[in-house]
Amino acid sequence: MEIDRTVVRQDKPLLAALGGAAIWPPPVWLMRQAGRYLPEYRAIRAGAADFIALCTSPDLAAEVTLQPIRRFGFDAAILFSDILMLPWALGHGLAFREGEGPVLPPLRDAAGLARLDPSRLTGAITPILETVRRARAGLAAEGFDRTALIGFAGAPFTVACYMIEGGGSKDFAATRTLAYADPALFGALIDLLTEATIAYLAAQVAAGAEAVMLFDSWAGVLAPDLFRAHVVAPLRRIVATLKTRFPAVPVIGFPRMAGMMLGVCARDTGVDGLGVDTAADLAVAAALVPARVALQGNLDPLALAVGGPALARGVETVLRAGRGRPFVFNLGHGVVPHTPPEHVAELVRRVRAAG
Ligand code: CP3
Repeated sequence: MEIDRTVVRQDKPLLAALGGAAIWPPPVWLMRQAGRYLPEYRAIRAGAADFIALCTSPDLAAEVTLQPIRRFGFDAAILFSDILMLPWALGHGLAFREGEGPVLPPLRDAAGLARLDPSRLTGAITPILETVRRARAGLAAEGFDRTALIGFAGAPFTVACYMIEGGGSKDFAATRTLAYADPALFGALIDLLTEATIAYLAAQVAAGAEAVMLFDSWAGVLAPDLFRAHVVAPLRRIVATLKTRFPAVPVIGFPRMAGMMLGVCARDTGVDGLGVDTAADLAVAAALVPARVALQGNLDPLALAVGGPALARGVETVLRAGRGRPFVFNLGHGVVPHTPPEHVAELVRRVRAAG
């Protein structure tokens, strides 16, 4: 007999959707939902010494995690931290410069790899795990019983991108060059990051994260063979290892700009959900990805920032493509800082009114 997946009982809509239920209206949350577009975030940020201090102050980071839930009642809260806190915890230098983004010492040789120290990880992530505990307790204390807490990490490839380049880049040419020129060194870095990511995410789940997401923001710069080796294989290892310890905790992959490789990610990694970026046609993604994998996405963050008819049309298009399968409404990338918070409220209203 055919099982009706829409009646799976689960009181948190996000977890139900990631468990395979075609919930309608779909659960909704937004990447970078806590951040500079919120005046209450800017107020807390102004009081912290710098961005790293904010990420390592559990009371402030937990407060920031909850801010967008209070305003918009999202179906998920996401731990407030950053993907670059993992290299930071491994002893790699990290600074966030105002208006410039992250700056790291470029890792290009064996000596750079040897300087990473996995024995620092457990101690260094202690404040981040405390943020997870406080955010989870805060959700319960404030009555957000249907909001799930998502933990996250950068996927090994994207974290390696920032470590190798020493910051952001248009095309991550130094990273791709190293992958071809010194595959042993590149592979060893990916392996080290994969193991550290497993330990980091397992610790977040043990502290109270109810789902985890892996941000692979730059996966799309890789040629297919490198994509299989450094995006698909590490993700498969992370999912498989987490599932042995926490079989019921869903894992969302976000191989941004994966294009035609999205189907491979759905088939070969074991993820429960896949984030779809702004450039992908969600209806085409839905055809590539089997219905046992939930899709999450993919409204253009700039349509949200502009609002009005662009927002209304964008929400409609995404809802039409996500309907009838396990689906989580989100953006195709993070909220941009100039987004008016009222547009976010309107987005949530429109999604929740979906017929
Ligand atoms: O609300 C959330 O989504 C949770 C917190 C979160 C942040 N960064 C906070 C942040 C998450 C999940 C991230 C992920 C992240 N960080 C990614 C993957 C997603 C993506 O955007 O592609 C990447 C590539 C980073 C690295 C990073 N962090 C960059 C390039 C920058 C500088 C650019 C910028 O937006 O300032 C950051 C800083 C950062 N991370 C901020 C926030 C709120 C802004 C810092 C500030 O307040 O000054």
